[in-house]
Amino acid sequence: MIWLYIIVFIFALTFLYASWRAAPWLPMYGKDLSRVINLARLKEGERFYDLGAGDGRTLLAAADAGVFAEGFEISLLPYLLAKFKIIFFKKKNKPKIYFRDFWNINLGEADVVFVFLLPRIMNQLKAKMETELKPGARIICYVWPMPGWEPAAVDAVSGQPKMYSYIKGS
Ligand SMILES: C[S@@+](CC[C@H](N)C(=O)[O-])C[C@H]1O[C@@H](n2cnc3c(N)ncnc32)[C@H](O)[C@@H]1O
Repeated sequence: MIWLYIIVFIFALTFLYASWRAAPWLPMYGKDLSRVINLARLKEGERFYDLGAGDGRTLLAAADAGVFAEGFEISLLPYLLAKFKIIFFKKKNKPKIYFRDFWNINLGEADVVFVFLLPRIMNQLKAKMETELKPGARIICYVWPMPGWEPAAVDAVSGQPKMYSYIKGS
């Protein structure tokens, strides 16, 4: 029984740590996945990152659209769920999920970056993107916009969260 408590404690600890680092695990609506894919204008062979990938739902949708999808997640429960789902993803371009803090990865290879994170970290993330993203990379923000950036497109559907698309300048 003590092992159960230890496991629950570890899961809770990673959840709290992730909430502090950028956002708690709150999955985006499944019905919004096609909106993300359309707004991102994914092209076959591109590299798609989800910073804080949760249970990997965006990764599967992006891989379905023909891109190389990679996610970074530090909350144990969604990470394991994503891992499990990916095992059963049988098409080509199997997505990848890493148990890694996205603040410690370089974004230089990404063509498209998806974020659904808290507004309080957006300025810090913006600085990281301005330094690391290549010119022309696209950024999709779910619910909260990137402060100070002019969106290239906004996807607004009545009753659903807004999404914002940005293009990194040179
Ligand atoms: C609001 S959820 C979004 C999940 C997923 N992107 C989606 O749209 O369904 C934010 C996720 O970011 C993860 N997270 C927070 N800070 C992180 C960090 N520094 N590195 C990796 N993942 C992080 C959380 O654990 C959580 O799963």
